[in-house]
Amino acid sequence: MLIVANWKAYVDTTEKAKKLFTSAKRLTQYADIALAMPHPYIGMCAGTKSAVMLAAQDVSASTGGADTGEVTASTLASLGVSYVIIGHSERRAKGEDDAVILEKVQRALAHNITPILCIGEQERDPDAKYLNHVRAQLAAVFSKLSQKERLATVVAYEPIWAIGKTAAESIQPVDLEEMVLYIRKVLGDYLPGKSAQKVRILYGGSTEPTNARALAGGSGVDGFLVGHASVDVPTFSALVKAVS
Ligand code: PGA
Repeated sequence: MLIVANWKAYVDTTEKAKKLFTSAKRLTQYADIALAMPHPYIGMCAGTKSAVMLAAQDVSASTGGADTGEVTASTLASLGVSYVIIGHSERRAKGEDDAVILEKVQRALAHNITPILCIGEQERDPDAKYLNHVRAQLAAVFSKLSQKERLATVVAYEPIWAIGKTAAESIQPVDLEEMVLYIRKVLGDYLPGKSAQKVRILYGGSTEPTNARALAGGSGVDGFLVGHASVDVPTFSALVKAVS
Protein backbone atom coordinates (compact mmCIF):
# COMPACT_ATOMS: atom_id res chain seq x y z
CA MET A 1 0.00 0.00 0.00
CA LEU A 2 1.09 3.53 -0.74
CA ILE A 3 -0.11 6.11 1.75
CA VAL A 4 0.37 9.73 0.79
CA ALA A 5 -0.21 12.28 3.53
CA ASN A 6 -1.56 15.53 2.13
CA TRP A 7 -0.75 18.07 4.82
CA LYS A 8 -2.46 20.83 2.81
CA ALA A 9 -1.98 24.11 4.72
CA TYR A 10 -2.80 22.48 8.06
CA VAL A 11 0.86 22.31 9.07
CA ASP A 12 2.35 25.75 9.59
CA THR A 13 5.16 25.42 12.11
CA THR A 14 8.55 23.74 11.75
CA GLU A 15 7.95 21.99 15.08
CA LYS A 16 4.79 20.32 13.86
CA ALA A 17 6.36 19.41 10.52
CA LYS A 18 9.36 17.83 12.26
CA LYS A 19 7.14 15.90 14.66
CA LEU A 20 5.03 14.46 11.83
CA PHE A 21 8.09 13.62 9.75
CA THR A 22 9.84 11.86 12.63
CA SER A 23 6.79 9.83 13.61
CA ALA A 24 6.20 8.81 9.98
CA LYS A 25 9.57 7.04 9.98
CA ARG A 26 8.13 4.45 12.35
CA LEU A 27 5.26 3.78 9.95
CA THR A 28 7.37 2.74 6.97
CA GLN A 29 7.38 -0.84 8.26
CA TYR A 30 3.62 -1.01 7.55
CA ALA A 31 3.31 0.74 4.18
CA ASP A 32 5.10 2.97 1.68
CA ILE A 33 4.73 6.45 3.14
CA ALA A 34 5.05 9.72 1.27
CA LEU A 35 4.49 13.08 2.95
CA ALA A 36 3.14 15.88 0.76
CA MET A 37 4.17 18.93 2.72
CA PRO A 38 4.22 22.67 2.06
CA HIS A 39 7.30 23.48 -0.08
CA PRO A 40 9.53 25.02 2.64
CA TYR A 41 9.29 21.91 4.80
CA ILE A 42 10.48 19.76 1.90
CA GLY A 43 13.75 21.64 2.07
CA MET A 44 13.88 21.10 5.81
CA CYS A 45 13.35 17.33 5.56
CA ALA A 46 15.44 16.76 2.43
CA GLY A 47 18.69 14.93 2.87
CA THR A 48 17.54 13.05 5.98
CA LYS A 49 18.20 9.34 5.67
CA SER A 50 14.84 7.61 6.03
CA ALA A 51 12.38 5.44 4.15
CA VAL A 52 9.80 8.23 4.27
CA MET A 53 9.38 9.65 0.78
CA LEU A 54 9.04 13.35 0.13
CA ALA A 55 6.10 14.63 -1.88
CA ALA A 56 4.93 18.05 -2.98
CA GLN A 57 1.35 19.32 -3.07
CA ASP A 58 1.80 21.04 -6.42
CA VAL A 59 4.42 21.86 -9.01
CA SER A 60 4.71 24.71 -11.46
CA ALA A 61 4.18 24.18 -15.17
CA SER A 62 7.09 26.60 -15.63
CA THR A 63 10.40 25.32 -16.94
CA GLY A 64 12.29 27.88 -14.89
CA GLY A 65 14.12 31.10 -15.56
CA ALA A 66 12.46 34.50 -15.15
CA ASP A 67 9.30 33.26 -13.44
CA THR A 68 8.85 34.85 -10.02
CA GLY A 69 7.25 32.71 -7.35
CA GLU A 70 7.21 29.44 -9.28
CA VAL A 71 8.57 26.20 -7.85
CA THR A 72 9.62 24.00 -10.75
CA ALA A 73 9.88 20.24 -11.10
CA SER A 74 13.65 20.53 -11.37
CA THR A 75 13.74 22.40 -8.04
CA LEU A 76 11.67 19.64 -6.41
CA ALA A 77 13.84 16.96 -8.02
CA SER A 78 16.96 18.63 -6.60
CA LEU A 79 15.52 18.00 -3.11
CA GLY A 80 14.82 14.33 -3.81
CA VAL A 81 11.05 14.64 -4.12
CA SER A 82 9.47 11.34 -5.22
CA TYR A 83 5.82 12.29 -5.75
CA VAL A 84 3.82 15.39 -6.57
CA ILE A 85 0.07 15.88 -6.25
CA ILE A 86 -1.29 17.47 -9.43
CA GLY A 87 -4.78 18.74 -10.17
CA HIS A 88 -6.13 18.50 -6.64
CA SER A 89 -9.72 19.76 -6.56
CA GLU A 90 -8.67 22.55 -4.22
CA ARG A 91 -6.33 23.80 -6.96
CA ARG A 92 -8.79 23.14 -9.80
CA ALA A 93 -11.26 25.31 -7.82
CA LYS A 94 -8.76 28.16 -8.16
CA GLY A 95 -8.92 27.92 -11.94
CA GLU A 96 -6.36 25.27 -12.81
CA ASP A 97 -7.57 23.59 -16.00
CA ASP A 98 -6.81 20.30 -17.74
CA ALA A 99 -4.27 21.91 -20.07
CA VAL A 100 -2.17 23.24 -17.17
CA ILE A 101 -2.58 19.97 -15.30
CA LEU A 102 -1.24 18.06 -18.31
CA GLU A 103 1.78 20.37 -18.50
CA LYS A 104 2.48 19.87 -14.80
CA VAL A 105 2.25 16.08 -15.18
CA GLN A 106 4.70 16.23 -18.09
CA ARG A 107 7.12 18.47 -16.14
CA ALA A 108 7.07 16.07 -13.18
CA LEU A 109 7.64 13.01 -15.38
CA ALA A 110 10.50 14.76 -17.17
CA HIS A 111 12.26 15.05 -13.81
CA ASN A 112 11.48 11.52 -12.65
CA ILE A 113 8.94 12.66 -10.09
CA THR A 114 5.81 10.49 -10.00
CA PRO A 115 2.71 12.61 -10.64
CA ILE A 116 -0.36 11.84 -8.55
CA LEU A 117 -3.14 12.96 -10.86
CA CYS A 118 -6.27 13.87 -8.86
CA ILE A 119 -9.65 13.34 -10.45
CA GLY A 120 -13.17 13.16 -9.04
CA GLU A 121 -16.69 14.45 -9.38
CA GLN A 122 -18.33 17.30 -7.49
CA GLU A 123 -21.40 15.20 -6.76
CA ARG A 124 -23.12 11.99 -7.78
CA ASP A 125 -26.18 12.43 -9.98
CA PRO A 126 -28.78 9.67 -10.44
CA ASP A 127 -28.06 9.46 -14.18
CA ALA A 128 -24.40 8.68 -13.44
CA LYS A 129 -23.14 11.62 -15.51
CA TYR A 130 -20.34 11.84 -12.97
CA LEU A 131 -18.73 8.89 -14.74
CA ASN A 132 -18.34 10.98 -17.90
CA HIS A 133 -16.71 13.70 -15.84
CA VAL A 134 -14.16 11.27 -14.41
CA ARG A 135 -13.54 9.81 -17.87
CA ALA A 136 -12.95 13.29 -19.33
CA GLN A 137 -10.49 14.23 -16.58
CA LEU A 138 -8.52 11.04 -17.20
CA ALA A 139 -8.66 11.39 -20.98
CA ALA A 140 -7.38 14.99 -20.88
CA VAL A 141 -4.09 13.75 -19.48
CA PHE A 142 -3.71 10.11 -20.48
CA SER A 143 -4.51 10.69 -24.16
CA LYS A 144 -1.50 13.03 -24.37
CA LEU A 145 1.09 10.86 -22.62
CA SER A 146 3.38 8.17 -24.00
CA GLN A 147 2.84 4.55 -22.90
CA LYS A 148 5.79 4.82 -20.54
CA GLU A 149 4.46 8.04 -19.01
CA ARG A 150 0.99 6.54 -18.55
CA LEU A 151 2.43 3.66 -16.56
CA ALA A 152 4.49 6.06 -14.44
CA THR A 153 1.45 8.14 -13.44
CA VAL A 154 -0.53 7.48 -10.26
CA VAL A 155 -4.27 8.25 -10.31
CA ALA A 156 -5.93 9.53 -7.13
CA TYR A 157 -9.71 9.25 -7.18
CA GLU A 158 -10.96 11.99 -4.88
CA PRO A 159 -14.69 12.69 -5.08
CA ILE A 160 -15.09 16.31 -4.00
CA TRP A 161 -18.23 15.54 -1.99
CA ALA A 162 -16.23 13.22 0.27
CA ILE A 163 -13.27 15.52 0.96
CA GLY A 164 -12.83 17.10 4.38
CA LYS A 165 -15.81 15.33 5.95
CA THR A 166 -15.92 12.38 8.33
CA ALA A 167 -15.59 8.64 7.80
CA ALA A 168 -19.38 8.33 8.07
CA GLU A 169 -19.85 10.68 5.09
CA SER A 170 -17.06 9.14 3.00
CA ILE A 171 -17.52 6.77 0.08
CA GLN A 172 -18.82 3.26 0.73
CA PRO A 173 -16.43 0.38 -0.06
CA VAL A 174 -18.77 -1.04 -2.72
CA ASP A 175 -18.98 2.31 -4.50
CA LEU A 176 -15.22 2.67 -4.38
CA GLU A 177 -14.77 -0.80 -5.84
CA GLU A 178 -17.10 0.12 -8.69
CA MET A 179 -15.21 3.34 -9.38
CA VAL A 180 -11.81 1.63 -9.36
CA LEU A 181 -13.14 -0.84 -11.95
CA TYR A 182 -14.45 2.04 -14.03
CA ILE A 183 -11.15 3.94 -13.87
CA ARG A 184 -9.26 0.79 -14.94
CA LYS A 185 -11.70 0.35 -17.82
CA VAL A 186 -11.05 3.94 -18.99
CA LEU A 187 -7.28 3.42 -18.60
CA GLY A 188 -7.72 0.39 -20.85
CA ASP A 189 -8.41 2.83 -23.70
CA TYR A 190 -4.85 4.10 -23.35
CA LEU A 191 -2.90 1.07 -22.26
CA PRO A 192 -2.80 -2.31 -23.95
CA GLY A 193 -3.87 -5.59 -22.37
CA LYS A 194 -3.09 -6.01 -18.73
CA SER A 195 -1.04 -2.81 -18.47
CA ALA A 196 -4.03 -0.82 -17.24
CA GLN A 197 -4.04 -3.05 -14.16
CA LYS A 198 -0.55 -1.87 -13.33
CA VAL A 199 -1.42 1.83 -12.94
CA ARG A 200 -1.64 2.60 -9.24
CA ILE A 201 -4.95 4.03 -8.09
CA LEU A 202 -5.29 5.81 -4.75
CA TYR A 203 -8.45 6.90 -2.98
CA GLY A 204 -8.79 10.20 -1.14
CA GLY A 205 -11.71 11.76 0.71
CA SER A 206 -12.21 11.40 4.46
CA THR A 207 -10.17 8.27 4.94
CA GLU A 208 -9.89 7.91 8.71
CA PRO A 209 -8.74 5.08 11.00
CA THR A 210 -12.34 3.84 11.29
CA ASN A 211 -13.07 3.34 7.57
CA ALA A 212 -9.59 2.81 6.15
CA ARG A 213 -9.55 -0.96 6.48
CA ALA A 214 -12.97 -1.42 4.90
CA LEU A 215 -12.02 0.89 2.01
CA ALA A 216 -8.74 -0.96 1.45
CA GLY A 217 -10.19 -4.46 1.51
CA GLY A 218 -11.42 -5.65 -1.85
CA SER A 219 -11.91 -2.23 -3.44
CA GLY A 220 -8.85 -2.68 -5.63
CA VAL A 221 -7.13 0.54 -4.54
CA ASP A 222 -3.36 0.57 -4.22
CA GLY A 223 -3.33 3.13 -1.43
CA PHE A 224 -4.73 6.38 -0.08
CA LEU A 225 -4.26 10.12 -0.27
CA VAL A 226 -5.04 11.27 3.25
CA GLY A 227 -5.81 14.86 4.22
CA HIS A 228 -7.02 15.83 7.70
CA ALA A 229 -6.29 12.42 9.23
CA SER A 230 -2.62 12.76 8.27
CA VAL A 231 -1.75 15.78 10.40
CA ASP A 232 -2.35 14.25 13.82
CA VAL A 233 0.32 11.74 14.90
CA PRO A 234 -1.87 9.11 16.66
CA THR A 235 -4.63 9.35 14.03
CA PHE A 236 -2.27 8.91 11.08
CA SER A 237 -0.45 6.09 12.80
CA ALA A 238 -3.76 4.27 13.51
CA LEU A 239 -4.84 4.74 9.89
CA VAL A 240 -1.62 3.32 8.44
CA LYS A 241 -1.75 0.33 10.77
CA ALA A 242 -5.41 -0.26 9.90
CA VAL A 243 -4.67 -0.76 6.21
CA SER A 244 -1.46 -2.73 6.55
P1 PGA B 1 -9.39 14.60 3.46
O1 PGA B 1 -8.57 15.18 2.22
O2 PGA B 1 -8.74 13.29 3.83
O3 PGA B 1 -9.25 15.65 4.52
O4 PGA B 1 -10.79 14.41 3.01
C1 PGA B 1 -8.13 14.36 1.18
C2 PGA B 1 -7.56 15.22 0.10
O5 PGA B 1 -8.16 16.27 -0.21
O6 PGA B 1 -6.50 14.89 -0.47
